[in-house]
Amino acid sequence: MPGVIGVVDHRNAPRLSPLAGTFFGPDGGLLMLQDGVVPYAGCPVALVVARTPEQAKAAADALPVTYDEQPHDTHFSAGHPAARPASTVFGEDANVGDVEAELARSAVVVDEWYRTPEEHCGAMELHSATAWWDGERLQAVDCNQGPFIVATGLATLFSLEPERVRVRAEHVGGGFGSKGLCGPQLVLAVMGATLFGRPVRVTMSRHQVFLMTPPRPATEQRVRIGAGADGSLRAIDHEAAFEVSPLASYVENCVEPTKTLYAAAAIRTRLTAVPLDILPPFSVRGPGLTPGSFALESAMDEVAERLGLDPLELRLRNEPAAGPVSGLPFSRRDLVACLREGARRFGWADRDHRPRTRREGRLLAGTGLAATAFSTGALPSSASITAEADGSFTVAVGASDIGTGARTALIAVAADALRVGTDRIRMRIADSDFGPAWAAGGSRGTASWSWAITDAAAKLRERLGDPERPVTVTADTTRVLGGLPPRERHAYSAIFAQVTADPATGEVRVRRLLGMFAVGRVVNPLLARSQAVGGMIMGLSMALHEEGVRDRASGRQVNADFAGYHIAAHADVPDVEADFVPDYEPDDPSGIKGVGEIGTVGTAAAIANAVWHATGVRQRTLPIRVDRVL
Ligand code: MOS
Repeated sequence: MPGVIGVVDHRNAPRLSPLAGTFFGPDGGLLMLQDGVVPYAGCPVALVVARTPEQAKAAADALPVTYDEQPHDTHFSAGHPAARPASTVFGEDANVGDVEAELARSAVVVDEWYRTPEEHCGAMELHSATAWWDGERLQAVDCNQGPFIVATGLATLFSLEPERVRVRAEHVGGGFGSKGLCGPQLVLAVMGATLFGRPVRVTMSRHQVFLMTPPRPATEQRVRIGAGADGSLRAIDHEAAFEVSPLASYVENCVEPTKTLYAAAAIRTRLTAVPLDILPPFSVRGPGLTPGSFALESAMDEVAERLGLDPLELRLRNEPAAGPVSGLPFSRRDLVACLREGARRFGWADRDHRPRTRREGRLLAGTGLAATAFSTGALPSSASITAEADGSFTVAVGASDIGTGARTALIAVAADALRVGTDRIRMRIADSDFGPAWAAGGSRGTASWSWAITDAAAKLRERLGDPERPVTVTADTTRVLGGLPPRERHAYSAIFAQVTADPATGEVRVRRLLGMFAVGRVVNPLLARSQAVGGMIMGLSMALHEEGVRDRASGRQVNADFAGYHIAAHADVPDVEADFVPDYEPDDPSGIKGVGEIGTVGTAAAIANAVWHATGVRQRTLPIRVDRVL
């Protein structure tokens, strides 16, 4: 066909190393076009390279593909016979005290199942990469959340020395987890560039992004909470099952909030993975904690209901003095401040806690809240700073700005550390040649990169003596973190929601969302507030709209586009208020905790609890569709 340069498939594709992976282990999902097996519906079977995108699309559509059907299983349930304990890089299952004995002596016990569906990152920018060979060096411009980590993965995958691979990602239109790894677009572009000896650009369609980039796994979670008549928690038992692929290890760490949020005489957590013939799930927007917090914070609301207690008061009465499972001190814990200040601004004190008691015209109205924590910290990163002859400073760090404003925030951090104005900082980011750096992920980007920049700035100032002196001096650092006191470090939030529900149609509208956050030092209030608001909107979207639907017969996601996979649009989003209580992380040189994902985590439960308050109907399955409200 016109313009076609060639086709890559399992017969001619470059061989890939199975050693490439994630911190969960090897990732077989990356091993595309290596054999004739199609492990999941949507997996690429060939890449057509042509002169123009239109020619490539036309040729790909014309490509004859034949296959035999194999038995497959894509239907998730916690009771699936293949369910197995999930070993976790996040630590052991919690097993403190005697859960059964404490439940038996509780005045009230809540024992419920909570379910969340497959969810997709939904970044606006389609996954896209351009790769070419520059002599012996592989060059790529990609969209990802961490060019150094992606370059390292790419080198392993294609068995190249790391110095021979350079990946840049200077401009990224959203990631939310889906661009945290070496993506299919990049692997396929490198294959094309290698086979055909020319630059190759691969841009996925929206449909392909849904079918080929990792979703948040569906979860089914059983939460049992026992409490005394005074509201003190006796036992929390949280079992979370999630779907995985046999191709790659992944742990949806739903139980992190359960291990840290409340004091209880007994706490037990269990994580269970169910392997299915689906594309490997991975981190999406507050991975693990977001579905986990929905279950825990919904169950807490049910405990308050049964006790006839203010759900705010229930949380205040179970504030732990130290990590309830770890026994470690908290570096700084400001959850109570978030709850109290949020309640004051929201007007929580006037709430009648009985459900279905408020109306706005013909609509039912209600309010709800949720609290949460998100672990924070910094991971090894490097930075270099050059004092230029004209008095400016060039700062290079392998950070990625996926739309959060990381570049802007880091300019402020560098200016602070160098004690000069921001107008003298030239910030260069997102190039694997800048050295090891953590990704824009895990809510640890700003903390990790700032640590490296602060360290490099200190070295430079030492070397320069007088920073006004016009010389060119570079200071490099690879910050190896360690030696921190053993403590629990978390960001905290309290989210308050007000909703209406239409008793005739079941339609839920969120009228007001308010979040109070403790995120350590706020580097840039405008950006941090935007991040928190954006996260809360994602939580709203999760609560009311998002649901990846898989066809059991074909194993294929049937709503793999924005027409079928609904996300909150402007009209769904009310005024969102987000603010920060004074906070500072004592174990971070810049006082930073992290603001990345804390906005998302608690929001769905706050909304679900508000829907119960409005309607008297518990929402234990997301999204809160009209058929689940009536
Ligand atoms: Mo994120 S889901 O920490 O990239």
